[in-house]
Amino acid sequence: MAFAHGKILLLGEHAVVYGRPALAAGLDRGMTASVVDGGGARLQIPAWGVDVSPADSSAVARAFAALLGALPGELGGPTVRVEPGIPGGAGLGSSAALAVATARALAAHAGFDLDDDALFDAAMAAERVFHGNPSGLDHAAAMHGGLLRYVRGMPPSLTPVVANTPLSLVVAQVAPGADTGAMVGGVAERRARLPVAIEAALDAIAALVDRAQHAVEVGDVVSLGEAMTVNHGLLAALGVSTPALDAACHAARAAGALGAKLTGAGGGGCVVALVDDASADPVVSALAESGGMVLRASVG
Ligand code: PMV
Repeated sequence: MAFAHGKILLLGEHAVVYGRPALAAGLDRGMTASVVDGGGARLQIPAWGVDVSPADSSAVARAFAALLGALPGELGGPTVRVEPGIPGGAGLGSSAALAVATARALAAHAGFDLDDDALFDAAMAAERVFHGNPSGLDHAAAMHGGLLRYVRGMPPSLTPVVANTPLSLVVAQVAPGADTGAMVGGVAERRARLPVAIEAALDAIAALVDRAQHAVEVGDVVSLGEAMTVNHGLLAALGVSTPALDAACHAARAAGALGAKLTGAGGGGCVVALVDDASADPVVSALAESGGMVLRASVG
């Protein structure tokens, strides 16, 4: 059995593609993979009705093929079965967790050591099939869990962040997730048209990430919440919010959340709200009204 974490992006998505830092939180839930005997090389996710061979043409099949090709060592023809503990396509990092858990299961079954660099590179090969130009943030969070500051690079910089007090979050899926590659492409187009304004927004997001990290480290949840809310406004300026995501953030704050923002690529998907003991239940109720999945998470 091999496990990888789902994740929430606390701050910094999209800006991280352009070298700015981001803060990610690994979830306790994620994806669990194991190699089962027989059947040849296949990837099966029975809960999602997925059963593919690497020769198939679907994205998940091509990602599986890319992962097999990128892993060092002799794998044989393994059938990998995966049990999802997070919804797919919701911005919770399911594709990255799928890649990391599958790679870990394959390496354990074949009996070779997979160091962090080789695992990161193999998961990157799979993530490129889904996301085109991934920053690597999702699979770094899938590998390590916990709170993480991430800066893209060769090699990427990953710094664990130690929270003074655990953060209490509510995550709600407001709409089906949009295509991450298309959302990243939309920001690239806007940046090409409005380079000065968009670079300023990316720098402002980086400043909020620094402020939020400090707030996490000293336990200042009010400042963290404010940084998240302002980050949402800047994501809207990048063109990745929607009326439904904006409305959910407003509803969460009206119910007492300390801050709220979209999380992940935007265009749909999830919002994350920072809550305290008094606001947790009202925020869950307010966000449940949009009809999608709502989960509570404690991180740090
Ligand atoms: O929607 P998700 O969870 O795949 O998040 C994408 C995060 C982006 O910053 C938008 C893209 C990336 O590769 O970092």
